[in-house]
Amino acid sequence: MNKKGFIFDLDGVIVDTAKYHFLAWKKLANSIGVDFTETQNEQLKGVSRVKSLEKILAWGNKTVSEAEFKELMDSKNTDYLNYIEQMNASEILPDVPKVLNYLIENKQGIALGSASKNATVILEKVDLLSKFDQIVDGNHVVKGKPNPEVFLKGAKALGIEPEHCIVFEDASAGIEAAKAAQMIAIGIGDKTVLGDADYVFNDFTEISTDFIKELIEK
Ligand code: BG6
Ligand code: MG
Repeated sequence: MNKKGFIFDLDGVIVDTAKYHFLAWKKLANSIGVDFTETQNEQLKGVSRVKSLEKILAWGNKTVSEAEFKELMDSKNTDYLNYIEQMNASEILPDVPKVLNYLIENKQGIALGSASKNATVILEKVDLLSKFDQIVDGNHVVKGKPNPEVFLKGAKALGIEPEHCIVFEDASAGIEAAKAAQMIAIGIGDKTVLGDADYVFNDFTEISTDFIKELIEK
């Protein structure tokens, strides 16, 4: 029986939290007189909180003191936590449980590989935490995506070689990270954004259990 490692990004793959990150960053950016568009938000997907704020400040040509930087980060996260407070299982993206349950039935390794420091809270809220063998998130990594660290740590935690791991990602930085880790990269979302992935699907409803079986047997 083949055992592969399946590593899932969280935001935009398991749950649609990108909309909450967008609202919280927009409020923050506008509060310091900086415009913030959906296109810019796309560039923050998969990017850590610190790096995201650095980008927003650069777009707005703003410099702030270290103390202000920390305040801005905290304020964004407080708003974000308010949004996710209400989350429940209804916000799990379609057919994610189908894939997770198939992997569990077939005794595959399942890990989370997310840049978010709020990952565990969100998985608890949507009641999916118990489906994961390992959690690697923003609290465990030094280098953010596109650096492969988060996925390599996921593989290590699962005890599975990187080349036997498959990553599900919605961000181009995440696809880059998965490829740099020598893993199979599956893009969830728009082909024009995720063109470097080995496979791209709009969402998990397009991923059959036969396809997962092929990945396991590969
Ligand atoms: C990623 C999101 O998963 O996590 C980014 O795609 C976010 O938008 C990053 O900035 C960090 O998240 P958090 O919850 O630690 O602020
Ligand atoms: Mg994501």
